[in-house]
Amino acid sequence: MCGIVGYIGHRQAAPLILESLRKLEYRGYDSAGIAALHDGQVTVRRAEGKLKNLSTMLLREPMTGSIGIGHTRWATHGRPSENNAHPHRAGDIVVVHNGIIENYLELKRQLLKRGTHFSSETDSEIVAHLVAEKVAKGVDFLAAVQRTLREIRGSYALLFLNRRDPTRMIVAKNSTPIVIGSGEGEMFIASDIPALLDHTRKVAFLEDGEIAEVTLGGYRIFDGKGKPIKRPVKQITWDAVAAQKGGYAHFMLKEIHDQPRALADTFRGRIAFKDGNVALEDIKLTVNAVKQIKRIHLVACGTAWHACLVGKFLFEEIAGIPAEVDYGSEFRYRSPLMDPKSILLMVSQSGETADTLAATDIARAKKAKILSICNVIDASIPRKSDGVLYTHAGPEISVASTKAFTTQLTALYLLAVALGRKNGKLKALEARKLLRDLMHLPHWIEEALKLEGEVKTLARDLLHSRDFLYLGRGINYPIALEGALKLKEISYIHAEGYPAGEMKHGPIALIDEKLPVVVLAPRDRYFEKTISNLKEVESRGGKVVVITDDAKTAAEIPAFRVLTLPKASHYLTPIVMTIPLQMLAYYIAVLGGKDVDQPRNLAKSVTVE
Ligand code: G6P
Repeated sequence: MCGIVGYIGHRQAAPLILESLRKLEYRGYDSAGIAALHDGQVTVRRAEGKLKNLSTMLLREPMTGSIGIGHTRWATHGRPSENNAHPHRAGDIVVVHNGIIENYLELKRQLLKRGTHFSSETDSEIVAHLVAEKVAKGVDFLAAVQRTLREIRGSYALLFLNRRDPTRMIVAKNSTPIVIGSGEGEMFIASDIPALLDHTRKVAFLEDGEIAEVTLGGYRIFDGKGKPIKRPVKQITWDAVAAQKGGYAHFMLKEIHDQPRALADTFRGRIAFKDGNVALEDIKLTVNAVKQIKRIHLVACGTAWHACLVGKFLFEEIAGIPAEVDYGSEFRYRSPLMDPKSILLMVSQSGETADTLAATDIARAKKAKILSICNVIDASIPRKSDGVLYTHAGPEISVASTKAFTTQLTALYLLAVALGRKNGKLKALEARKLLRDLMHLPHWIEEALKLEGEVKTLARDLLHSRDFLYLGRGINYPIALEGALKLKEISYIHAEGYPAGEMKHGPIALIDEKLPVVVLAPRDRYFEKTISNLKEVESRGGKVVVITDDAKTAAEIPAFRVLTLPKASHYLTPIVMTIPLQMLAYYIAVLGGKDVDQPRNLAKSVTVE
């Protein structure tokens, strides 16, 4: 997730773009850059690190031009560095990009054959080259972009400048947001509304597959076939703070709703569907190395630890590799049995959690291979790893983890399929089925999000309960733990997650009419057993809330309330089940007047022991 800004008008572009980028820093902040066009010359300034580095550079070396583009980056391909920072330039063309070009390796190969020289490791640079090649042959700027879009696959918001054409910017969109703002004799482009609000409230959103030409006088939008489209201007009424939250009341709610996009970005470009393979660019394990793996040690803290508990099921069942799960704070002080045939897999949103990071010393000493799943490029944990799989959740601002968790589950699923294919446990046919299921996941999440109204009503009904019990079984037991943790973290209500079958060994004593019991009951091999468990709760007066994916029997389940989710495939059920639990915690906390995004005593990243 990156931030893009463009400007054409009568003012100096660079300072204005810089200011607007500041409003988009929440989308990414590992490097930034600006290009401006003046007197037939393009100047590009880029700096690694937060925007203040670019701002210092611009003070030292100002740039001139009243048309320009800018970018704040959250790396996906290529580590954060000045070379990988946008804008990227090729010949007369300069581009900024937000998204992932799925077929970039294939396109890069073709360009290399034609003698193209690359100056970055990004997928974005290839787009600049593809357009520049055409423009150099005399193709019109707009037509060159249109033709290039037919060659690329993936998600993108792309914004182009042409050194020889100072009158217009070209912008294109697919699966990532971009908005055009209209001012008085000046025009703006941005990834999101907050970047425009200081200048205009008149905006037009581009839709997927569309392309627009933006000039001093306004904009023209075309569909994928080049047919002009009329798009009325919208008047934005949000204030600046609401705009940063995308109109949502809190970052947590925004991040909950960002999950269909985040999950798709995590698997995008990594699925080779035809042969049922998964391409993990930064995990280089040969078939031989994978066949030798005897055990995976998953290590994490907090929510990421719950993701690991699901991961154990995935590695054992999909890839046939034994797995064990530890808290970072426990692992570091025990003597795990590891050897060169073991893998340490750390899972961490921030990549900076001290207890998780400490596992690397043990693994190194035992000569085990070190892998990680992380959301922040080049954070300490991936830097200490031999291989890394980045989730593409984008920055997560709310302290309570939501999209980071579900993208971790997605990454674990991808890794399990990748390892299963390499060690021969998983046949191509089965793998294709698992990957097809994964491609449906964003749709199932969209459906699950539609329960929001029902969940809000439920939250109102349960608001005054002082304790909650969450029950799940098998692969959904960790989700019961995560549901309980979410509620504790942001509402300060005591909650416990328990394996449903264990209830009779203790928690059943707690049950009375005041105790809500949230039961995860997907239609799986445990379904009937789970229903028996919930009858035990019901008969003791407990307030049972059932979350199921079995629309047929939902009406017959004896419960205070039943929420029905779409039926997802078995190994993806935990991700879908998570959605109503996130929303339940969120609404109970909001209705209870709590500071949802910054709960007391908690920190987003815990870098001390
Ligand atoms: C903190 C956060 C949690 C997070 C945990 C692990 O406790 O509040 O949301 O799950 O750290 O963080 P990591 O960045 O390693 O995933």
